[in-house]
Amino acid sequence: MIIAIDGPSGAGKSTVAKILAKRLGFLYIDTGAMYRALTLKVLKNNIDINDKEKIIQLARNTQIDLKNDPEGNLLVCLDGQDVSLQIRQPQITRFVSEIARIKEVRQVMLDLQRKLGRKRDAVLDGRDIGTVVFPDAEKKFYIDADFKERLRRRYKELRELGYKVTLEDVESDLKNRDKIDSTREFAPLRKAEDAVYIDTTQMSIEEVVNKILESLSF
Ligand code: DC
Repeated sequence: MIIAIDGPSGAGKSTVAKILAKRLGFLYIDTGAMYRALTLKVLKNNIDINDKEKIIQLARNTQIDLKNDPEGNLLVCLDGQDVSLQIRQPQITRFVSEIARIKEVRQVMLDLQRKLGRKRDAVLDGRDIGTVVFPDAEKKFYIDADFKERLRRRYKELRELGYKVTLEDVESDLKNRDKIDSTREFAPLRKAEDAVYIDTTQMSIEEVVNKILESLSF
């Protein structure tokens, strides 16, 4: 069984998807982490962010693997190295949407996501899971929240991770990513017609998880 969870940055998708997967005993696949891992490699290799050809080549020659530890936490491996923490750096967040808009890069990730999702029951979170990656997913959810609330959550998350970002930095980054992710030509962020829409602005994580569990008929 595939549970698809899509929505914009900061809406709470990853936290919800992770808890849900743990409760159900499903594999948790954070597809944004894959784009982040590739972005890390692009930056580490000093590749120009506008050099599409080089980025595509790199994507085709990169090993990205996602694993869940016994606590259900996500481990992201890039060419065999654990990069789970590094991919959350603001520097990666700033450039990831530029990498994720490239069609050929998306094709590489799509193949990987489908391969992982077919291994066993899984919860996948991203932007195009219900529309493109698994359009036949048994259950689809679109998790949203007001811009102000998403900004507050992202800012809090980054501060808690120890990054000295300003609210203005996070705001401009979020606006920029929202724009690129929802207007790009290939697999833009949008709600699948058959996805359940959940506005989490006034909801706690636990409430969202429970709402999803209620709507799954088991
Ligand atoms: O969920 P996140 O913030 O970690 O995702 C990082 C970026 O990756 C996001 O700005 C857009 C891109 N992304 C995507 O294009 N498609 C997905 N399925 C997941 C993420």
